[in-house]
Amino acid sequence: MTVNFQIEPGGRLSGALRVPGDKSVSHRAVMLGALAEGRTEVTGFLTGEDCLCTMRAFQAMGVRIEAVSPSHLIIHGVGLHGLQAPAHALDLGNSGTSMRLMAGLLAGQRFESTLTGDASLSRRPMGRVIEPLQRMGARIESQEGRAPLRILPVDGLQGIRFESPVASAQIKSCLLLAGLYAQGRTEVHEPEASRDHTERMLRAFGVTLEARPGYAALQGGQRLSGTRIEVPADISSAAFYMAGAAMTPGSDVTLTDVGVNPTRTGIIEVLRRMGADITLVNPREFGAEPVADIRVRGAQLQGVEIGRDLVAASIDEFPIIFVAAAAARGTTVVSGAEELRVKESDRIQTMCDGLRTLGIDAEARPDGMRVEGGTLQSGTIDSHGDHRVAMSFAMAALHAQGTISILDCANVDTSFPGFAELARQAGLRITVGRGV
Ligand code: S3P
Repeated sequence: MTVNFQIEPGGRLSGALRVPGDKSVSHRAVMLGALAEGRTEVTGFLTGEDCLCTMRAFQAMGVRIEAVSPSHLIIHGVGLHGLQAPAHALDLGNSGTSMRLMAGLLAGQRFESTLTGDASLSRRPMGRVIEPLQRMGARIESQEGRAPLRILPVDGLQGIRFESPVASAQIKSCLLLAGLYAQGRTEVHEPEASRDHTERMLRAFGVTLEARPGYAALQGGQRLSGTRIEVPADISSAAFYMAGAAMTPGSDVTLTDVGVNPTRTGIIEVLRRMGADITLVNPREFGAEPVADIRVRGAQLQGVEIGRDLVAASIDEFPIIFVAAAAARGTTVVSGAEELRVKESDRIQTMCDGLRTLGIDAEARPDGMRVEGGTLQSGTIDSHGDHRVAMSFAMAALHAQGTISILDCANVDTSFPGFAELARQAGLRITVGRGV
């Protein structure tokens, strides 16, 4: 099915909004719940396609998952060695997190498995996990470092000490999950601190590990015991509304129950540096994860320089940051963000092309972009099937002079089912066209 968005210009955002559950936490809840002994109850689970792919993959390996409601799951864990060989290849759709984390978890199994994905996922680099897993003793075949991945049975893995060249929670989590199946200790060092949901959640399941920013290590063979997980609202989904409101004077939104894990809150820092009016209220905890309500009031934003130190903590938010930069006064320069080129699309190129289509002076660089704030014109944007690109350009209409049409938006459902409906309720003049 094809899905396109059409957004009439103008409007403001207002109201109290609850965006769906955190994607990273939802994936991990299913994975760790499946490997645990006993029941794990998950509430606030994200029913986006990416997390459903993870859920189906574990069901295909014999894990029973009861849905009390679509976002309330009871996972009947099978223990570290209880997964069964899947009868067919596991299709992980658009989801890089599913593929990289599951590659680690499956690398130590005594059965063979194959991981496949859609065209976008099949273009993304998997060598970054295959290579360290092979050093641990895994046997993995790929298409020159890309999916499909064929993971062959092994008798066991060996712990390693790995210096990751990139700050990536997917690489770190992949190796920690493989490390559960390894003899000895598995250690991961990274150049900047990536999100630490795996470390927090492993502890909640009773695993002992050492973790500090940029470092995580665990001893193999530890057992997980079932627990309760309450998934916070996803700050990466809230970010579209936060930035949309921040850049539109007269807007006033409160995003409720948002996960504010410090490894994820770069967007708050970036928007504040741009002059946004943001307050965090009602801070509390959902299990191992800090949560707050985030109130954002509109203002005239200013251009800003964003360097490598802020990249990891806002890695998924650059599409909407580039849109906020276009609506700001002055120049924004982003550097140290070359990882954006290997996301669901090349987010430096797709965003630069889209902004230029709307009449903005933007220059793509190998590791980021320069954006001159200006007046957004009407235009038709190709999202290249990238959910976050589509949602970001939808918010651009708040600042545009004419209608913005966005093509290839079906993948918005991978992370944010109900995006358009919530956006309309908040004040965006969006309509959704569906075809076959
Ligand atoms: C994720 C890690 C990040 C992020 C992705 C989710 C995770 O990817 O972009 O959306 O859940 O671990 P990288 O590890 O490739 O930076």
